[in-house]
Amino acid sequence: MHLVPEPDSTAPDSPAGGDPATRLTAVLDALTPWPDDGSRADGPVAVDATDRLLLDEAAPLLAAAGPGDVAVIGDRFGALTLGAVTLGAPDIRSCTDTVTTEAAVEHNMADAGLLDVVRGSRRSVEITVRDRVDEHLLGGARLVLLQLPPSLAELTEIAEAVARHAADDVVVLAGGRVKHMTRAMNDVLAASFTDVRATLARQKSRVLVATGVRPEARDAAPSFPARAVLRDRELLAAATPSGETSPEDVAVVAHGGVFAGTSLDLGTRFLLTTAEKWPGADRVHDAVDLGSGSGLLAAVLALRYPDARVVGTDRSAAAVASTRATAQANGLGERVVALRGDAGEDLEPASVDLILLNPPFHDRTAVRTDAAHRMFRAAGLALRQGGELWCVFNTALHYRDALTRAVGPTVHIAQNPKFTVTRSRRR
Ligand SMILES: C[S@@+](CC[C@H](N)C(=O)[O-])C[C@H]1O[C@@H](n2cnc3c(N)ncnc32)[C@H](O)[C@@H]1O
Repeated sequence: MHLVPEPDSTAPDSPAGGDPATRLTAVLDALTPWPDDGSRADGPVAVDATDRLLLDEAAPLLAAAGPGDVAVIGDRFGALTLGAVTLGAPDIRSCTDTVTTEAAVEHNMADAGLLDVVRGSRRSVEITVRDRVDEHLLGGARLVLLQLPPSLAELTEIAEAVARHAADDVVVLAGGRVKHMTRAMNDVLAASFTDVRATLARQKSRVLVATGVRPEARDAAPSFPARAVLRDRELLAAATPSGETSPEDVAVVAHGGVFAGTSLDLGTRFLLTTAEKWPGADRVHDAVDLGSGSGLLAAVLALRYPDARVVGTDRSAAAVASTRATAQANGLGERVVALRGDAGEDLEPASVDLILLNPPFHDRTAVRTDAAHRMFRAAGLALRQGGELWCVFNTALHYRDALTRAVGPTVHIAQNPKFTVTRSRRR
């Protein structure tokens, strides 16, 4: 939680002066796409045309907003959160799923020069950053500003949560880049709201405006987290301890934004086909599912190595919650620890015997591989001497040299037309 303090109204020519629109321009211009090491989750621009359009559409509502009225979902660097304060919101609840976006928003919120402008002539405001789309974020909210998520499943989970928890007269402003928007997004919103319309596009962004919570949506059972029971041959074989009989199935639980949802990804499936060659149980005391998503690989590790401690780690709060729920659904709640962290960088050095990794290839809608490289480096540090990183990736990415540099000697274990599985052994 952050308090934006009262401005010093006696200061002459304070940057906090000016009308809200002028201050908004100053705030948005001053935002930085933290961190500045090239590992940014959302590209080099701290504010995009969607942020600006959303704030312009919301301006009259923000000027009239009262305490507890405004929630922000999916802010990337703080433009929506700080912009909404600048335009008059007395407080904000802001939700960012990933630990990296949360850090970016908090970094910009902590920038003293920026806050000087944000606070303008307003009294103190309170900004709360959350990592869940739930009643704490949305209870009683009357205005929700949303950067449209890439997946319809995630949008469904958000729309249903708003309908369940927000005020009856809530206005949802959901913005996106036109090229990433589909009619299906209107349909998803229309399942929870009676009125859904689109604004005119501006600079290739558009806002969907949803109002009128459907009475039936108030009490409907949430669609997420979704649950499924999988019986894929490769999955069951990999989840079987040496010399024992296979489990009949493996349960999976996934929140809307989670990679592959409740299904088994093709790359993950290919990694599982190599399980026979993973180290034996006598060598695996600590195992990690790096970038755990739904936590299927964490569950496989816990089932295959009944005496091992297992960690699933992901930057996404939805993934961490899913990993925890998947473990619980398989009776492994005590065995799997789910952590929210960036690229496995907070794993204890030289503490792990086996890491499974299907690294991210996309970040939202962009193809990016920098997180994968940071995961390789983190794996190299986290593994004990002789410990192994098993990685599956699109063959075209040619990660072998990078893996060798980051971890140690790397061999190709399996290859099909699309994927390669490698084993890297810590020197
Ligand atoms: C290709 S998915 C694999 C998910 C899961 N292990 C599976 O096999 O289905 C990659 C995962 O990495 C996570 N991820 C992306 N960037 C990350 C980062 N910087 N730190 C931690 N996890 C990240 C994503 O949230 C996603 O869950």
